[in-house]
Amino acid sequence: MTTTPGCVVITGASSGFGAEFARRFAAAGADVILVARRLDRLGVLAEELSSAHGVRAVPIEADLALPGAAERLVREIDARGMNPDGLVNNAGFGIDGPLATADIADVSGLLQVNVVALTELSVLLLPRLLAHESAVLVNVASTASFQPLPHLALYGASKAYVRTLTEALWKEAQGTGLKVLALCPGPTETEFFQVAGSERFKVGQMLTVPQVIDHAFDALGQRRAGPTRVAGWRNRVTALAPRLVPTRTALAVAGSLTKD
Ligand SMILES: NC(=O)c1ccc[n+]([C@@H]2O[C@H](COP(=O)([O-])OP(=O)(O)OC[C@H]3O[C@@H](n4cnc5c(N)ncnc54)[C@H](OP(=O)(O)O)[C@@H]3O)[C@@H](O)[C@H]2O)c1
Repeated sequence: MTTTPGCVVITGASSGFGAEFARRFAAAGADVILVARRLDRLGVLAEELSSAHGVRAVPIEADLALPGAAERLVREIDARGMNPDGLVNNAGFGIDGPLATADIADVSGLLQVNVVALTELSVLLLPRLLAHESAVLVNVASTASFQPLPHLALYGASKAYVRTLTEALWKEAQGTGLKVLALCPGPTETEFFQVAGSERFKVGQMLTVPQVIDHAFDALGQRRAGPTRVAGWRNRVTALAPRLVPTRTALAVAGSLTKD
């Protein structure tokens, strides 16, 4: 990255991509605000990062599935006297199966975490990100954002929202010091599949967590970062393909890949 932020908020830092984002930003000298529900894990990571890199690493417990979570989180950050110039909206999860059988509490939770909290946190922190000469906002979307996905419909739709929101914001931020990136990983071995209780999401080129985060940092290192980075060349091809064929064809292919 050309300029490292001074203080980065990372949601979903207790596992997977979020923990790796925290490690990379801390190694580059940034203070990190680690957000998730599992405070014990955040505490261990915060200790590791502050002793390894001499940065301030602050764990904050937050359940982003609860309405108003983003506002409460910003109040917590302010109460600690921290002034972030980086935000990684990474917390998220998927639910598996046809919409007709979805549990309504899971549906609501997914929309709150993947869509509402991500949006509210972006909006609440944008004024201060834009006030910095150089700042970063990374929203973690997915290759699932590029086509409708039968049996993973809600997850795919939530990630399509994240990607298009972020791409539009990238344009709004042109001419400012804020770099905006929609990161689109393909299937990657984290706790994601365990949480979703399904392997159905494993469609596309598998990469490792460090490989995906390398992509994010490579994109942020470009002078004109973003708006979108798909991790892995085969995933880039797969992301492009649905745009070149009729929707019914894209659905037939997606449906055959995600069927039981
Ligand atoms: N792994 C993949 O194949 C893949 C591919 C494309 C995109 N993604 C996206 O990458 C992001 C990170 O996922 P991951 O693969 O790293 O999975 P993961 O290992 O399961 O991590 C998910 C993180 O989100 C946090 N989280 C979930 N629900 C939360 C809630 N209600 N409140 C606060 N934090 C919550 C979890 O923390 P707690 O449980 O401690 O709260 C955890 O830190 C997600 O947005 C996911 O959709 C993943």
